[in-house]
Amino acid sequence: MRRLATAVSAAAFVLGIVIPSIAMSSAQYPRGNGNVQNGEQIFKNGKGDVPACTSCHGQDGMGDDNMGTPRIAGQFAIFLRKQLEDFATDKRMDTTMFVMNANAKGLSAQDRNDVSTYLESIKIKDDGTKGSDLKALAENGTVVGQSHKGKSIVEFGQGNRAKPLAACRSCHGYNGRGAPPVYPRIGGQKYVYLVNQLKKWRDGSRNNDPMGQMQAIARAMTDEDINNAAAYLTGASDYTLGNMFTPYDH
Ligand code: HEC
Ligand code: HEC
Repeated sequence: MRRLATAVSAAAFVLGIVIPSIAMSSAQYPRGNGNVQNGEQIFKNGKGDVPACTSCHGQDGMGDDNMGTPRIAGQFAIFLRKQLEDFATDKRMDTTMFVMNANAKGLSAQDRNDVSTYLESIKIKDDGTKGSDLKALAENGTVVGQSHKGKSIVEFGQGNRAKPLAACRSCHGYNGRGAPPVYPRIGGQKYVYLVNQLKKWRDGSRNNDPMGQMQAIARAMTDEDINNAAAYLTGASDYTLGNMFTPYDH
């Protein structure tokens, strides 16, 4: 198999073409290297004073719009670990439920790595059905954006205005499926969490992004842009049309 792959890539090289399926289906991005069993224990049962992650992030780790918690299952381990380190050192403040700083501090660095590794290992088929139920949210009085307008922001950005807005895709990949280890999955994320975070980046209450990248992006967004982009992203599939594979083997 390896020889075949080598032969095909050599041929591709000679022909000057790119065959992404070979380079990408083996998912060669830096993965978590923690202890999955310990991570699963912490996720399901908590540890010491730290409650089970499932109590707020859901049994399946897919997040909860009523609490404003994010989906953490299937997110990239190195990104999750960074967030937990940032909470532990107060570089990122949980201003939603005021719990994650204490939760992260209550775990050791090894535990934080282990739980991140476990979360990444949860396989989720991101077929566009795992995000929020926008209809139910709207019925409960949440302002919900327009998905088709959000799609154009995610794919193309908005160049024709005083503060141009970069396409989310340029960093977060196709449909926000992520570009590990730096750029998280935002496709299939919970709507309320997406809206909250974009507003937090915009007002600077979340500022743990490398080089202020997300703060600059969010400052170019109106409330409508935020709602629209979040409405699209929550239902965005990882899969391109007719393709059964994503680069991440999930
Ligand atoms: C009492 C509720 C609660 C519990 C228990 C909880 N979380 Fe959270 N978590 C939150 C909230 C609320 C946020 C969103 C914070 C914000 O808005 O910035 C969050 C955010 C996070 C994030 C950031 C994700 C991202 O995409 O940036 C990670 C990672 C995380 N939690 C991991 C965990 C882990 C691991 C556990 C179990 C050890 C856990 N949480 C337990 C409420 C909770
Ligand atoms: C220039 C690169 C770049 C662009 C373009 C970009 N982002 Fe980001 N985004 C980042 C980085 C880097 C992070 C991770 C920050 C961190 O480490 O906490 C991030 C994080 C996020 C998060 C938080 C995810 C989480 O789980 O906590 C959201 C939401 C987000 N981006 C939405 C968007 C949207 C919507 C767009 C398009 C309007 C966009 N981003 C465009 C770089 C970018």
